[in-house]
Amino acid sequence: MFGPRKLCAALCIELSLCVVGVLGFRSHKFKVGGLPAVPFQAPSPNTQASYVLSLTRQAAGVSRSAGYVQSLRKGNEVNGVYGVASLTSVEEGEVFLTGVEFGTESFQAVVDTGSSDTWLAGKGFQCVNVTTGAVEPESDCLFASTYTIEPPFTEIPDVNFNITYGDGEFLTGIFGIEPVTIAGITVKNQQVAVVDYAAWFGDGVSSGLIGFAFPSITSQYAGTNPALDTTSNIPYNPVFTNMYEEGLVAPLFSLAIERSSLMSGTVPGGLLAIGGLPPVLFSPIFASAPFQLLTMVADAPTPVPQYQFYTITTNGFYYEGSEDTHWSLPNFPNPFGPPTNASQVQVIVDSGTTLIYLPNGIANAVNALFDPPAIYSDDEGAYIVECNATAPEFGVRIGAETFFINSEDLFLDNGDGTCISGVDDAGDSLSILGDVFLKNVLAVFDVGASEMRFAAREFY
Ligand SMILES: *[C@@H]1O[C@H](CO)[C@@H](O)[C@H](O)[C@H]1NC(C)=O
Ligand SMILES: *[C@@H]1O[C@H](CO)[C@@H](O)[C@H](O)[C@H]1NC(C)=O
Ligand SMILES: *[C@@H]1O[C@H](CO)[C@@H](O)[C@H](O)[C@H]1NC(C)=O
Ligand SMILES: *[C@@H]1O[C@H](CO)[C@@H](O)[C@H](O)[C@H]1NC(C)=O
Repeated sequence: MFGPRKLCAALCIELSLCVVGVLGFRSHKFKVGGLPAVPFQAPSPNTQASYVLSLTRQAAGVSRSAGYVQSLRKGNEVNGVYGVASLTSVEEGEVFLTGVEFGTESFQAVVDTGSSDTWLAGKGFQCVNVTTGAVEPESDCLFASTYTIEPPFTEIPDVNFNITYGDGEFLTGIFGIEPVTIAGITVKNQQVAVVDYAAWFGDGVSSGLIGFAFPSITSQYAGTNPALDTTSNIPYNPVFTNMYEEGLVAPLFSLAIERSSLMSGTVPGGLLAIGGLPPVLFSPIFASAPFQLLTMVADAPTPVPQYQFYTITTNGFYYEGSEDTHWSLPNFPNPFGPPTNASQVQVIVDSGTTLIYLPNGIANAVNALFDPPAIYSDDEGAYIVECNATAPEFGVRIGAETFFINSEDLFLDNGDGTCISGVDDAGDSLSILGDVFLKNVLAVFDVGASEMRFAAREFY
């Protein structure tokens, strides 16, 4: 098993990406807000989807969501405003890619559940340095290829695309209407952005991004000059929204993240099913929790939404030694039941984040249960553990179910004979269920019912 640390050590030398990414950010500031998530229909059935995307896990490139999360975690907060923070390798997270067609042109694009725009780098775009804004050769942005505007693409006049991601990346461009095909589903008249100006940490494999979040945080602004964008965004329908509004799919998507080594390059990452569930083995018992949408809002003159997280509240955590609290769990009144800390913790569900981040009391307790115990390292911002330690039994309770984490996922190889524990301390900041959790479940994002559902995966 190769963890993110080892990966970065290799990549930093090869591409100098991490160094650029870690040290010098343009200073962007964000506020955290909430968005209402209103159900508009009953939960969709848990049936297999006709449309399934294979995701590949991309080694190079920093996850957008991890960038936001970490800027919240340790960015110098002043009066509720957070600045972008530097990331250590363990915080960089993972990106997933899949295929997309704009018209007849095919590309690989980053799948992102936290943003809503779908865009490609346009032919002849200008690449600029993320830190300095200085013009760089196009190849420095590391897009695999570029999109050539051709019919039936129809430009939308008098609007512009302008987005800043939490890791410092920013892009601007134009909007147009184009047939877009993802997983064999074609939206004939989809609004897409074509980027003509990019500060981007690319991966050499993808050429753009597909956003799976809500219309409210799309990045369309009035006028043709992005530098003058001070008004609020003009929301439009993202591709997934059009898919269900046009009746092409049910209003849900689901994610089965695979446990695969992130050694180098592109490896299988999992399945994303649109309109149903992917063909993996899972328990028939689902647990559900309503969405609480959390947004990051750029602290511009007029605050504009930039990023969105699917957030839920847990019903407790299973680990030895938390017996003293188990009888207070509403759904588990049996005092002889499993040891469960009944803490109701608000957690972001995020495939772009590698680890599980939990409140200090829980993270400390779980890490102390490794034998020998995992010890917190300020340098790593994580708990260090011997790779041959015995992991504790650890589960996350959602609704009336406990989802256990395979002990394999609780060790991330640090590349130096030690491992990083899969459970980290969230400090005063937001808790997150990242890939360490997601590898053990099928995660269903039911947008229609405004809830998340989980089923345990087969033990694989
Ligand atoms: C961006 O500029 C900084 C500072 O001049 C430099 O260190 C870095 O290498 C540049 N990044 C790229 C990708 O060229
Ligand atoms: C994007 O919009 C912001 C205002 O929200 C503006 O300050 C910035 O200059 C714009 N970006 C570019 C590259 O013009
Ligand atoms: C239960 O969780 C809370 C955090 O939500 C923590 O402070 C407390 O120490 C935990 N209790 C035990 C017994 O682990
Ligand atoms: C576990 O690994 C450490 C080195 O990290 C080694 O010193 C120790 O002997 C190993 N323990 C067992 C039981 O194999």
